[in-house]
Amino acid sequence: MSLSVVILAAGKGTRMKSQKPKVLHTISGKPMLFHIIDEALKLSKDVTVVLSHQFEQIKSEIEKSYTNIKIHKQDTQNFPGTGGALKGLQLSSKRALILNGDMPLITQESLEQLANSTAPIAMTILNLKDPSGYGRVVIKDGSVEEIVEQKDCTQEQLAIQSVNGGVYAIDRELLDKFIPQINNNNAQKEYYLTDIIKIAKKNSINIEPIIVDAKDFMGVNSKLDLANAEAIMQERIKNRLMLKGVIMRNPQSIYIDCRATFIGETILENGVTIEGACEIDNSHIKAYSVVEESKIANSSIGPMSHIRPQSTILNSHIGNFVEVKKSTLNDVKAGHLSYLGDSTIESGTNIGAGVITCNYDGKAKYQTKIGKNVFIGSDSQLVAPVTLEDNTIVAAGTTVTENVPSGALAISRVKQKIVNSFFYKFFKK
Ligand code: UD1
Ligand code: MG
Repeated sequence: MSLSVVILAAGKGTRMKSQKPKVLHTISGKPMLFHIIDEALKLSKDVTVVLSHQFEQIKSEIEKSYTNIKIHKQDTQNFPGTGGALKGLQLSSKRALILNGDMPLITQESLEQLANSTAPIAMTILNLKDPSGYGRVVIKDGSVEEIVEQKDCTQEQLAIQSVNGGVYAIDRELLDKFIPQINNNNAQKEYYLTDIIKIAKKNSINIEPIIVDAKDFMGVNSKLDLANAEAIMQERIKNRLMLKGVIMRNPQSIYIDCRATFIGETILENGVTIEGACEIDNSHIKAYSVVEESKIANSSIGPMSHIRPQSTILNSHIGNFVEVKKSTLNDVKAGHLSYLGDSTIESGTNIGAGVITCNYDGKAKYQTKIGKNVFIGSDSQLVAPVTLEDNTIVAAGTTVTENVPSGALAISRVKQKIVNSFFYKFFKK
């Protein structure tokens, strides 16, 4: 059946206590709203996001990532609340699936339970030990009577543990009929979408309650909720990857961005962070290394290395305390304490301990090109822009300021002096 999906994201998100729009806070690297949009797009091509508070900012973020999302502006001045969000919204399908924009853990599968319902209205129910913050669902003789928001609850209602999941499937015809009937006679003086349940009941419309997994439908209202949702999302991501063949030592200590992809038998040691859309293929990332938006294949990284965005590291060994940025390395060894930025380094090259590419002069960034079979001695600085051709040697402690032609040695050192017995004179008592 054709389905229009509506995602409500126009609220102030007051409880988030943040300058940043609530729905743009990220879970595993992706804005909450985008997690929801991505799942919604698996069910329907017709997805509308309702915005108002911080309208321009959220709209422009959506437009940067999606071309096929409709945006509806809510008149929050006159019609605040989740019910106000749907005022004036024209939907093209006969059935609407309405989602809150603050439930980043929903999945296509969990939404399908609702989408497949043929009842005129289907709503989600979570059974929670601690129902605080959610709307309580009043059920009489097995049928849903109404949803009462926490702020409007009687003492008795506060104890109800069946709460509203905040996702509804509803015939568009009923939505068009009931939305204008919602009023704002409640503690928050808002138009509550949840009131359509009460109105439907009055009209003898059948409401199907669908009990769903509370983890999938968790609403994120505060930064505490955000951290709890993040923990669940991380567990999902890591479980999926381990079942696909990734080995993780102490997975609880590892963070992986939802956009990262893994191929083959990669090993991630404890404390590893994988940020952004990394692609990691058959590699060993050792303890406490951080990899950001980079491609790594058949390589070992760390412990305690930092691979910054736009790096490609193939068939290489990167040791401890090495920072790589926007560089391409293939069949390279950089074992200890280096900074390799804006560089390309080719096959058979060895980077000694403490080698630094001096890529920045305070104004602009410059490239360092290092060819094949280059041996760079420890504690050398390569002042960019500079090229070291194939089969060259840089002596330890050299500052390279000029290109090194193929086959050559570059050495820049002050000649060593020996002053005999100086120690005894200097420390004479
Ligand atoms: C809402 C439900 C509550 C349910 C809970 C589930 C209402 C009145 N209450 O409460 O029954 O248990 O979700 O998580 O619906 N929004 C708008 N326009 C507005 C106000 C809010 O689009 O004027 C959006 C928000 O951006 C948010 C969503 O609607 O994404 C839900 O709003 P929120 O304030 O988080 O509602 P809850 O109090 O969590
Ligand atoms: Mg909420």
